Amino acid sequence: MPYSTITGIGHYVPKNVVTNQDLTEVMETSDEWIRERTGIEERRYIDRTKETTTTLALEASLRAIADAGIDKEEIDFIVFATLSPDYYFPGSGVLLQRELGIAKTEIAALDIRAQCSGFLYGLSTADQFIRSGMYKKILLVGAEVHSVGLDFTTRGRGVSVIFGDGAGAVILEATEDKDKAVLATKMHSDGTYAEKLSYMYPGAHGGYFIEKYGLEGFDVDYDLDNNPYGGVFFNQDMLDKGRVYPHMEGQAVFKMAVRKFPEVIQEALHAAGLTVEDLDLLVPHQANLRINQFVQHSMQLKPEQVYNNIMRYGNTTAASIPLALSEARDEGRVKKGDVVALAAFGAGFTWAAAVLKWGI
Ligand code: ACO
Repeated sequence: MPYSTITGIGHYVPKNVVTNQDLTEVMETSDEWIRERTGIEERRYIDRTKETTTTLALEASLRAIADAGIDKEEIDFIVFATLSPDYYFPGSGVLLQRELGIAKTEIAALDIRAQCSGFLYGLSTADQFIRSGMYKKILLVGAEVHSVGLDFTTRGRGVSVIFGDGAGAVILEATEDKDKAVLATKMHSDGTYAEKLSYMYPGAHGGYFIEKYGLEGFDVDYDLDNNPYGGVFFNQDMLDKGRVYPHMEGQAVFKMAVRKFPEVIQEALHAAGLTVEDLDLLVPHQANLRINQFVQHSMQLKPEQVYNNIMRYGNTTAASIPLALSEARDEGRVKKGDVVALAAFGAGFTWAAAVLKWGI
């Protein structure tokens, strides 16, 4: 049975740098608050009418394809992880296929909606397709544009300062060589916490779960009396109440994240027949520098064993792991033969890890 291996990697971020100081001009916040709580110093935002989630993904993908030294027409399958697709539907996978100019190959394109864990859910999915022999070359991309959908008033500051835009991509290929392979992937979820980190409007739920679970702070008037049909997915009241933004209960996320990161990393290492002592580099999802430092200490890793770049890009959700892994490779922090662990935790809640031997 073949293994999958990363043969090419690339990342792309918009040129527009937005510092913490820049944000103080539109909301009540401070460089000190953001740095202390999150470690973030700056992030990138797209040029709103000239770039999209798909165009960021395209740039990252072209770099990964060039790095792998393959022709884009050889790609068998596109897996696109994002929580900020250009369209509600169709997904971004098909848009990327079109921008790559490979629509004529009629390969399948799949969107993954597992938020911060999206890239690792995508990696696990792609890995299974390669192991089964169905596909030989897969383009896996994580890309996000948060900046167009955040609340930049003081009301939204607890969320808006954290997120940034960016993309990262890898080419996965089949190999018989276990010494450069994805050795294990593990995925988990617990929907009990679905709304703790969520973007519920627009949506088809009609307030059903809010009622069922007595969720506070999500009230929206559906005004069904004046609408014999519809009126639920999107309405004026959602806009008036500012519900069309992400909702995050930061401390609940933090507490669960610091517990689940070490658990799932250990689980993936165990499945690969390895231990923490074998680990050369951990590339965690870049949600919050404090979370990653907590994980580093609790796993007794040295600072140089954990790669962080959230200081420069903020939290780019599904893009954060390939973006960090790509920069780690560019900086020589990961070398051929190294044991690398990737780990993520995010909305859902979902969490996941992968252990691989670096092969390029
Ligand atoms: N600037 C200044 N003050 C702020 C800001 C801001 N940007 N945001 C919130 N505050 C204020 C709040 O209004 C509050 O003020 P109050 O005490 O007067 O009411 C105070 O700061 C404390 O707010 P908390 O939300 O309790 O702050 P906390 O210490 O929990 O830090 C944070 C918030 C950074 C979000 C933290 O909870 C955290 O890191 N949680 C993890 C969440 C996370 O990382 N999410 C992203 C990852 S998940 C994913 O990737 C999808």
